[in-house]
Amino acid sequence: MPTAKSEKRVVTLAYGCQMSERDADTLTEISSQKGYTPSQDLEHADLIIINTCCVRESAENKILGKIGELKRLKAINPQLKIAISGCMVQQPGALERLKKRAPHVDIWAGTHNIHEFQRLLDESDEGKVAEVWEKPKETLESVPLAEKGKLKAFVNISYGCDNFCTYCIVPHVRGRERSRHPQEIIAEINALVKSGCREVTLLGQNVNSYGQDLQPPYDFADLLKDVDAIPGLWRVRFMTSHPKDLSDKLIEVIATGQHLCEHIHLPCQAGSNDILQRMNRKYTREYYLSRIDEIKKRIPQASITTDIIVGFPSETEEDFAQTLDLISEVTYSQAFTFMYSKRSGTAAARMEEQLPLDIKKHRLQRLINLQNAQSLAWRQKMIGHTYEVLVEGPSKANPDRLTGRTRGNELVVFSGEPRQIGTLVQVIIQDASAWTLYGELTE
Ligand code: 5AD
Ligand code: SF4
Repeated sequence: MPTAKSEKRVVTLAYGCQMSERDADTLTEISSQKGYTPSQDLEHADLIIINTCCVRESAENKILGKIGELKRLKAINPQLKIAISGCMVQQPGALERLKKRAPHVDIWAGTHNIHEFQRLLDESDEGKVAEVWEKPKETLESVPLAEKGKLKAFVNISYGCDNFCTYCIVPHVRGRERSRHPQEIIAEINALVKSGCREVTLLGQNVNSYGQDLQPPYDFADLLKDVDAIPGLWRVRFMTSHPKDLSDKLIEVIATGQHLCEHIHLPCQAGSNDILQRMNRKYTREYYLSRIDEIKKRIPQASITTDIIVGFPSETEEDFAQTLDLISEVTYSQAFTFMYSKRSGTAAARMEEQLPLDIKKHRLQRLINLQNAQSLAWRQKMIGHTYEVLVEGPSKANPDRLTGRTRGNELVVFSGEPRQIGTLVQVIIQDASAWTLYGELTE
């Protein structure tokens, strides 16, 4: 959006998961309150914020490259402020290393103090600032977003994680699990609905363990029921579900809810019991498959997605074959596949038998090939059936067509009218690729 010359502009870039995106929105909102207009134009920005991710080395390298590129913009415009926040900065010992590497950065902030960004921004008028809290302090509340008319929104329900999967840096940079109070969550969603939002995604590292720290007792199934009853809300999504905490009660609530979408993101991470144990996932392959069976029994139309890591330390060809086998057995509508990345400070980083890159790469490719075939088969089965689609806007690949998502979160491209954007329509599926459904509107 073009802005008047005197206006200050902020460009915010988010890397990583949906929590990072939501945090980036918070930082943009705080900057707006300080007079910055959100923009996409890096070349003419007055403030550039990068909210970082450190879950894999590849993400970190990409971000370091981006931060390096900003040196050129700072040379052209010395008034430009650069702020780097989030998980990468929060890693123990990272700040000093990063400061040395990127002296052109003005503000550094960790994951626990982004709500203080306004003060950091003020202080940066006097010189460089860096503040990383070791632990979260009092506030658990999200900074409310003023952005009006957004069709879809992310809503934090809990922060942090207690699970300590041995490969994962998240508990080290986001702290222990803390649940937001249900009243605060419901109030935030009510406000979003008033401003035009129709779909929310409830966010937590493990939504299924939501509420364990709340009194009186109130769990994720209770929260889903209450959110389902909010008038004016059409769709409720949630992620991520940890298999060990996916109770029958919760599956029942999803099965019977009116606006609760039949999409469950249930990371398996691996198919072999040995690897699952070394990952500290706290379930077996058999238990995981029993959860899948229960979902399929109670919600036959459910779309199930997953995260999978290949090349975890000591993973044998036999272990990997069990991952491929599990994928064939479940039929996921989509899988996010990752090559194991050694994260300093995690238990797996200290394990012997780290695998060579070529083995990891080869396994990842075999996994992707299998999942692509599965994703295609899943979508081909949808051909000839009609689905409810929330229309999001013009298709990126073909702006003459519209795009939206089914309740199962499958992407659909179809012909329609611009006035249908923001509405629910019925689409009959006529064709499919591994990632996209193609169809036509029905009456
Ligand atoms: N290496 C590779 N993938 C990882 N993930 C988390 N940590 C690592 C790591 N060290 C993946 C998991 C998780 C997803 C968000 O990222 O599959 O579910
Ligand atoms: Fe990481 Fe495991 Fe927590 Fe997910 S559940 S954030 S993979 S430690």
